[in-house]
Amino acid sequence: MTFYVTTPIYYVNAAPHLGHAYTTIAADVMARHHRQRDEDVFFLTGTDEHGEPVADAAHALGVEPQELADRNAERFKALAPKIGASNDFFIRTTDRQHEAGVQRVLARVRDNGFVYEGTYEGWYCPRCADFKAEAEIDPGNRCPIHHIELTREQEDNYFFRLSAFQQQLEQLYAERADFVAPRTRYNEALSFIRSGLRDVPLTRHKLTWGVRVPWDSEHVFYVWFDALLNYYTALSYARGEDLTGEFWPADYHLIGKDILRFHAIYWPALLMAAELELPRHIFVHGYLLMEGEKMSKSLGNVLDPFVVIERFGADALRFYVLREVPFGQDGSVSTASFELRYETELANELGNLASRTLAMIGRYRDWRLPPCPPDPALGADFEELTERVSALIDAAELTLALEEIWQRVRRLNRYVEENAPWRLAGEAERDAELDRVLRSLAEGLRAVTVLLWPYIPATAERLLAALGAPDLSLAAARLGAGGIERVRHVEPLFPKAA
Ligand code: MSP
Repeated sequence: MTFYVTTPIYYVNAAPHLGHAYTTIAADVMARHHRQRDEDVFFLTGTDEHGEPVADAAHALGVEPQELADRNAERFKALAPKIGASNDFFIRTTDRQHEAGVQRVLARVRDNGFVYEGTYEGWYCPRCADFKAEAEIDPGNRCPIHHIELTREQEDNYFFRLSAFQQQLEQLYAERADFVAPRTRYNEALSFIRSGLRDVPLTRHKLTWGVRVPWDSEHVFYVWFDALLNYYTALSYARGEDLTGEFWPADYHLIGKDILRFHAIYWPALLMAAELELPRHIFVHGYLLMEGEKMSKSLGNVLDPFVVIERFGADALRFYVLREVPFGQDGSVSTASFELRYETELANELGNLASRTLAMIGRYRDWRLPPCPPDPALGADFEELTERVSALIDAAELTLALEEIWQRVRRLNRYVEENAPWRLAGEAERDAELDRVLRSLAEGLRAVTVLLWPYIPATAERLLAALGAPDLSLAAARLGAGGIERVRHVEPLFPKAA
């Protein structure tokens, strides 16, 4: 089995913020979970470096676009390991192999008869790099996303014959109800298709910062076509050998809701035009909001992931964004709610459970667990847990999957209270009972930790090492599968921040 997951590639016009880290964290959770299932995983992220957003930002700073791209691509690249992302490759759309791939695929689209010359006239947002229909613009001809004034464009371009795919796209949506999720986004894409597709510019004449059009050197490709193709070109050169046969098409493209139309409509149409296989799923997440607005550099309301990680560690951030905001919906984030979850859930519910469990085994059994099966009463609460978590992650329901696991963390805390091992320890005739309670706690803790590994990988690895049970495979997430013999002390998993 193979599994291929992607994030959008990030514009290098500004530094990374939490909104960017968000999709990368989510994709990483999926990638890690599938590796636990022993699948061959390819996880791709990277930077989108061409087009007006980058050219304009460079111009404003008085530097060449390439210089700005190099500078900011480094910052995005550095963010990935900081947030614990285990991506297999980091693509930059200025990679020569990517550019050559774009030229090859789009030349094929033209050979197949889906490209023609025309004149575009209409509204355009240079920040979105998007042509806006009258119906979607704000009063005063403003961009609904960036609130900046749109420009009126008139330009001779090559067009992509998107309209030719009207029927095939309708059919795709009819046949594959899970092509786009959540359902509201599926409906949104479908109603856009049903409203009638119009052809779109494939190239830009005015711009020079882009991939050169092989059949007309006066044009560069419109940045969105160049960008979307990253998902395809990366596989051909990421590892020196061509992995396309193994991993194409993608299992999941994770995207934010602002780039739905490009992914849910242009992208499948483009692939059809190039006679390439379509992705299996597109999952659309919402926005992380701060004070009710989308967090974005241009609005100046960003939570800096580097600062949060410095204080609390990457795992806390990963856990927080997927726990606080239901994946697929918009939701608010704040320093206050972050600190609350850190304290109550990570430090108290998980951290204390781990310290207590290990400390009790140390105190009552000299760090050794005598062999005995776990408590069937607890076993019942763990039944089918792995299957449930897997099914949810298969549907990219990352918040629901985390909730399933967290219910078991809470169950284990109740189990400690219900069985009060400190009381059993005072009664010699209840030795066997104490063995069973300690074994059940250690096993339960081990099972939840294996399942939590995709979310909080560094912490999970530390804890599993202390439990003497480093096996991360999903098969090990069953109660009783661990064979724990000796455990050792662990320093607080989520200490009070400095
Ligand atoms: N370069 C394009 C994507 C090309 S993909 C072939 C782009 N880049 S972006 O840097 O502007 O945004 C990248 C992703 O970050 C988008 O999915 C966007 O939704 C996401 N986010 C940016 N700010 C966000 C929040 N505040 N919250 C959640 N995600 C947001 O678009």
